[in-house]
Amino acid sequence: MNTRWLFIFIAFTGVTIAALMRAPSIPDVPIPDDQDSIERGRYLVNAGGCISCHEDDSGGLSGGMPIESPFGIFYASNITPDPETGIGGWQGSEFLLALKHGRTPGGSYYFPAFPYRSYAGVTDDDVLAIAAYLMSLEPVVAQRPAHELPGWVARWQMGGWNLLAGMAEAEPESYGDPVIARGAYLTHSLGHCGECHTPRNALGISQQDRAFTGADMPDGHVDAIDAEALANWSQEDLALFLFIGLKSDGEYVGGKMEPVIEHNTSQLTDEDRLAMAAFLKHPR
Ligand code: HEC
Ligand code: HEC
Repeated sequence: MNTRWLFIFIAFTGVTIAALMRAPSIPDVPIPDDQDSIERGRYLVNAGGCISCHEDDSGGLSGGMPIESPFGIFYASNITPDPETGIGGWQGSEFLLALKHGRTPGGSYYFPAFPYRSYAGVTDDDVLAIAAYLMSLEPVVAQRPAHELPGWVARWQMGGWNLLAGMAEAEPESYGDPVIARGAYLTHSLGHCGECHTPRNALGISQQDRAFTGADMPDGHVDAIDAEALANWSQEDLALFLFIGLKSDGEYVGGKMEPVIEHNTSQLTDEDRLAMAAFLKHPR
């Protein structure tokens, strides 16, 4: 164990003791099952980019995709409503706890490879619509592999991570302009764009004061996408990029941004893409 890992271990252990004492209490809420909620949920699952990680070999959401990180390899869960290997039988409160607090139905912790730190800002209503859509899917029986992590990384330590990542005070910023507010919601919270475009500290926590200023990922540097970096892009250029992946220099984007365009931003309305562009171009 080198010094860096030792430091991480101590930090996680220490703050976890404090965090373990506070489990969020969420009243039980029904998952809607009307067609409008299911349709809204389908749209939100696109806006949330869930498919980029949870997609299976046949285009469904039964997971299995390996997600590499500096801490090890995570496998995306089966989020179809199979009761044994998926999320069948989940209540509304369990979706709220998972997506907005990173807590498992059993009271344990998810690993932040599931970007719940970003989804913490999603409204309860939207989480329940997402639940409505997921529950309407055909159940797929598929047990996904256990994550491949070093022995010193454990779920309970994520209590400490959550505390340091500011989960408790995860109040979304408010904006006067409703278009920018919508763009911020789609970019920051649902779109979790900062998970790749915001730099992280040694504990893997996104540095919110440097949001969208670019980051080093295991497979290379990810571009900055703040107003300064996008100075040469018009709002329309950016909205077009989010639709078809065409950059301002005339090239098509590649790498890990491709599935984001394919599964997330290309599926949104023009109005929502323009709102995201307005937010990104808005100086902070
Ligand atoms: C960056 C990849 C990624 C994205 C994007 C993502 N997830 Fe996940 N998700 C994961 C991983 C990895 C896990 C497993 C976490 C763990 O085991 O601690 C997970 C776990 C879950 C679980 C818990 C399943 C269970 O059986 O306990 C649910 C529910 C879930 N995701 C729903 C969603 C929804 C809904 C979205 C979109 C709004 C989404 N995820 C987007 C990677 C992702
Ligand atoms: C899974 C990681 C990931 C996520 C999530 C992600 N991006 Fe990216 N993004 C990348 C990578 C990697 C590139 C560079 C791709 C390349 O080299 O062609 C990129 C490139 C871009 C570019 C082009 C920048 C330039 O100067 O060429 C923009 C704009 C962009 N992303 C916006 C977004 C927005 C908006 C979101 C949220 C909806 C988002 N990204 C989510 C990984 C990601």
